[in-house]
Amino acid sequence: MATPHINAEPGDIAEKILLPGDPLRAKFIAETFLSDFKLFNDVRNMLGYTGMYKGTRVSVMGTGMGAASIGIYTHELIKFYGVNQLIRVGTVGAIQPTLKLGDIILAQGAGSDSNFVKQFDLPGELCPLPDSGLMIRCIQAAKENDIALQIGQVVSSDIFYHPNSELWKKWASMGVLGLEMEASTLYLTAMHFKVSALALCTVSDSLTASQAMDADHRERSLEKMILLALETIV
Ligand code: HPA
Repeated sequence: MATPHINAEPGDIAEKILLPGDPLRAKFIAETFLSDFKLFNDVRNMLGYTGMYKGTRVSVMGTGMGAASIGIYTHELIKFYGVNQLIRVGTVGAIQPTLKLGDIILAQGAGSDSNFVKQFDLPGELCPLPDSGLMIRCIQAAKENDIALQIGQVVSSDIFYHPNSELWKKWASMGVLGLEMEASTLYLTAMHFKVSALALCTVSDSLTASQAMDADHRERSLEKMILLALETIV
């Protein structure tokens, strides 16, 4: 039973999944954190693996960048493979000066400039939210593992290279913590299918300070977030 974008058999994918944007990050997570892992997808090189973490079966798969890409993969994972707990482990550009490179943001809500929500034909505005149970478990796991968490709203944009380079300041004026490109679609898809989702994002760059992380710092910070996601989901 393959879907157009995932060539796995039923049962190859765990009910719980971590979702980095980068498929090579999925490979890194499987190799670094999971035991007895097996590749379940290589269509378009969007690598997906299933293995064990502390006695629990967990999968990890790349989503690509943006609403269209994560929308396709999460739809297929949930509808055709029975995935019901999804945690994004991504990066975010900070838009508040209080945030530092390497900080981990839990997206308590995800606004967007995308048209993705329009397919649901709602009679007003909807707040794309994470599952409250996953969010509470994540906050507990962060405390237990002494990992600092910044909790607040992100905005998922369809446009990385916006011609108006000052536009982010409008979101910042409403207290939004950072910009990324996938959390809102993940939350909307999970809400539509009535499954649980959460987005964690490490600050990889700062629009207020024109800074970006070097490769070494990025690796170490991402590992902390991945550990937190795994401790949340098991
Ligand atoms: N904008 C959008 N997405 C991002 C950014 C950004 O600055 N940084 C990491 N993901």
